[in-house]
Amino acid sequence: MEQYIIKGGTALYGEVEIGGAKNAALGLLAASIMADEDVTIENLPDVSDVNQLIIAIENIGATVKRVDRHTVTINGKTIYSHVVEYEQMKKIRASYYLIGALLGKFREAEVALPGGCNIGSRPIDLHQKGFTALGADVVTDHGMLHAKADRLVGNNIFLDIASVGATINVMLAAVNAEGKTVIENAAKEPHVVDVANMLNSMGANIRGAGTDKIRIVGVPKLHGTVYSTIPDQIEAGTFMCAVAAAGGEVLIRNVIPKHLECISAKLMEMGCTVIEYDDAVKVKAGDETGSAKIKTLPYPGFPTDMQPQIVVCLSMANGNSMVTESIFENRFKYVDELNRMGSMIKVEGNTAFISGVGRLEGAQVSAPDLRAGAALVIAGLAANGFTQVDDIVYIQRGYERFEEKLAGLGANIEKVDSEKEAQKFRLKVG
Ligand code: UD1
Repeated sequence: MEQYIIKGGTALYGEVEIGGAKNAALGLLAASIMADEDVTIENLPDVSDVNQLIIAIENIGATVKRVDRHTVTINGKTIYSHVVEYEQMKKIRASYYLIGALLGKFREAEVALPGGCNIGSRPIDLHQKGFTALGADVVTDHGMLHAKADRLVGNNIFLDIASVGATINVMLAAVNAEGKTVIENAAKEPHVVDVANMLNSMGANIRGAGTDKIRIVGVPKLHGTVYSTIPDQIEAGTFMCAVAAAGGEVLIRNVIPKHLECISAKLMEMGCTVIEYDDAVKVKAGDETGSAKIKTLPYPGFPTDMQPQIVVCLSMANGNSMVTESIFENRFKYVDELNRMGSMIKVEGNTAFISGVGRLEGAQVSAPDLRAGAALVIAGLAANGFTQVDDIVYIQRGYERFEEKLAGLGANIEKVDSEKEAQKFRLKVG
C-alpha cells in the first residue's frame, strides 16, 4: 500500500500552482448531465473523488469525453438510467448530487443513501426536505432513496442548517422546476456560487448565490457551455498552513485571495506574513508561531476542511490554543495520531485544547480522512526526523500530485509502495 515518507525540518520556498476546487467540481459535474448538449468543464482537479463521479456519470449513460487531464466534455442526452447504486455511492459520497440533477431533468432519481463517514453521521434529511417541497415523492427503501415527481413546482425552502450539499442539490432540482424557488438560509460557500454560475451559463436563472437567499426561476431546458472550475480554497489553505508549520516563504498561485481571507487572517494573527496579489498569495512564516482561538463556521467563517491543518500549526505554537469544531461532530479523530508525534492536545466535546510544544517528532501515522491526512503530512514536514503516513488513498481523494507539489517547494517527501522504497528514501536524504 502506498505511503508518504517525509524527512521533516526543511523550510519551504518557491511557487506552487493551485488546481481547480474539488468540491466545486463535484457540483459542476452533476450539473453537466442536465443538458442534452456538450458541457465542457475545464480546470478539473485530477483527484480520485472527481474521477469517481465521472465514472458514476458514465454509468448512467452520459457521454463522457476526456479532453485532457483537467478537461472533460459531458453530454447528458444519452442517459438511460436514473439509478446510482450503493457501490458507487460508497466510492464518492457526492454522487448524491445526481439526485438533484436527475430529478430536475427527468423527474425521477434512485440513488443509494450515503452512509456515515469518518467525520460524522452526515444525514441528508435537508436535501430530501427540499425535493419534497418541490413536489417530489421521496421514499427510502432498502437503502435506496427514490425521488419521483409528475411535476416539479418552485417553492420557498428554508434550510434548518446552511448545508452546502442541500443547497447545491436543491438548486440543481429547482432550475428545471416550474416557477420560482427561494432557498433561504442557503450555504454561501464559493463552490455553491460556482455551480450557480455554471448553471446560469447553461441557461438557468439563478440569482443570489453567495448570499443566504437564492432565487431560482425555473427554465424548461438547459443548453451546453464551456466553464472553468474555480481554484481550490482548501488546497491553497493547506499549502499556506504547510508554510506556517514548516517555515519558509511561498507564492501560492492561481487562487482567489478573497476565498482565503479567513485563513490568512488567522495565520497573520499567529505571526505569519500574508501578502495578497490579484490571483496569488505569498505566505512567509513568522520566527515563532503564536497561539490562537478558532471556531469552524460556514463560509465566510473558518472552514471545517482547514481545521486539522491549522491544529497542526497551533500544536507547535508558543502558548495555548483552542479550536472548536462546529460543523461535524467527529472531526478530531486524527488528534491521537498527532499526539503520537509529540503534540499535546486534549479533546473535550467539540473543542481541542492545544498546548503548544514548539517541535514535533516524526513517527509512523495513518491518515483517518482526507483533510486530517493532509494535516499529518504537514506535521511530518515540520517534525524532526522521518514520518511515514499510511492510508494516503484518503489524501489522493482531494489533492492532486500533493507530494510532487511539496517536493517542488524543497520538501523531502516521496510516495513509496514498499519498505524497500522507504529505506531507499531514508538512505538518499540521510
Ligand atoms: C461539504 C463539503 C465538505 C465540507 C462541508 C462543510 C462537498 C462535496 N463537501 O460537505 O468538504 O466539509 O461541506 O463545509 O462539497 N446536515 C444535516 N442534514 C442535511 C445536510 C447536512 O443535518 O441534510 C448537517 C451536516 O451533518 C453537518 C452540516 O449540516 O453538520 C453541514 O454539512 P454540509 O454543509 O451539508 O456538508 P456537505 O455538503 O456534506
